[in-house]
Amino acid sequence: MKKTILSGMRPTGVLHFGNYFGALENWIRLQDDYSCHYFVADWHALTTGYEDTTRYKDNITEMIADWISTGLDPSKCVFFLQSAIKQHAELHLLFSMITPISWLTRNPTYKDQLAQMKEKNITTHGFLGYPCLQAADILMYKADYVPVGEDQVPHVELTREIARRFNFLYGNVFPEPQSLLTKAKVLPGLDGRKMSKSYNNTISFSDTPDEVYKKVMNMITDPARIRKTDPGHPEVCTVFAFHKIFNENEVPEIEENCRKGAIGCVQCKKNLALKVKEFHTPIHEKRTELLKRPDYIKDVINDGNGKAREIAEKTMYEVRAAMKIDWL
Ligand code: TRP
Ligand code: SF4
Repeated sequence: MKKTILSGMRPTGVLHFGNYFGALENWIRLQDDYSCHYFVADWHALTTGYEDTTRYKDNITEMIADWISTGLDPSKCVFFLQSAIKQHAELHLLFSMITPISWLTRNPTYKDQLAQMKEKNITTHGFLGYPCLQAADILMYKADYVPVGEDQVPHVELTREIARRFNFLYGNVFPEPQSLLTKAKVLPGLDGRKMSKSYNNTISFSDTPDEVYKKVMNMITDPARIRKTDPGHPEVCTVFAFHKIFNENEVPEIEENCRKGAIGCVQCKKNLALKVKEFHTPIHEKRTELLKRPDYIKDVINDGNGKAREIAEKTMYEVRAAMKIDWL
């Protein structure tokens, strides 16, 4: 029996390289050895982005296209849409009955986001209950492992606590899941900060090859280099950080030439642009093709939803029975 994996992504926009190296690459690696369930967390997106909901439909389609074109295989994993599996709402509600408010208010992600998102009113019940919904997502499928970034570890920990409390109150229904923190490659954004849509420093799979080329050629390099012969400092250069991921084999040579002032930054970026193109173009093309077949994407999701729903309904039978609320 393969162990069960579950993870989700909020449909907040098209995927960029940071999302790929931070999460998706791991998801893809896991699909052969585990029974993987990957879902679009559209209800989670609503907890902070409840006002303008116009983009979600397209974001969901594009996210699935991004997943498939980067190599996540719907014949190996179950893809589903959170809001299509209404059982998540039921389990979330039941968990909300047994989760003390103090567990939610002391959650570090909650505190951080409240402090950061000054422009949005997220002092809502829905946002406070975010981890209860996440616990429902995870425990519904009795996941053994949850591949997530560092920032999500407290949510998985809370999930374990909710599972423990449920099992203590009503009997053993849920196994305790574990975070799977695989060491992700760190790719900075074009300006050297963390790659993030809100910094406008991303390369996305939706970008055209021309756009990608321009973005690479406009990257900031070592500011101490004015002439080509000036000795460079690759450790401060974003282009170099990209070479480490896209052009591993030539890294020692680039480092040496940069330090010696034997290669110009323009040439160095051109070399990188070529490597980035080799990675990006086939994915971009596949994604463009997929988006011309929205019915296929819908089929993939509907198919996955069916499988997810079956598991979810089975779990809910157990939950209702354990809680003795299966009166009818
Ligand atoms: N909170 C996660 C994030 O923002 C998304 C998510 C929702 C999730 N439910 C989940 C991740 C369940 C793992 C498991 O990235
Ligand atoms: Fe960066 Fe390359 Fe220029 Fe060195 S030569 S500073 S690594 S772009």
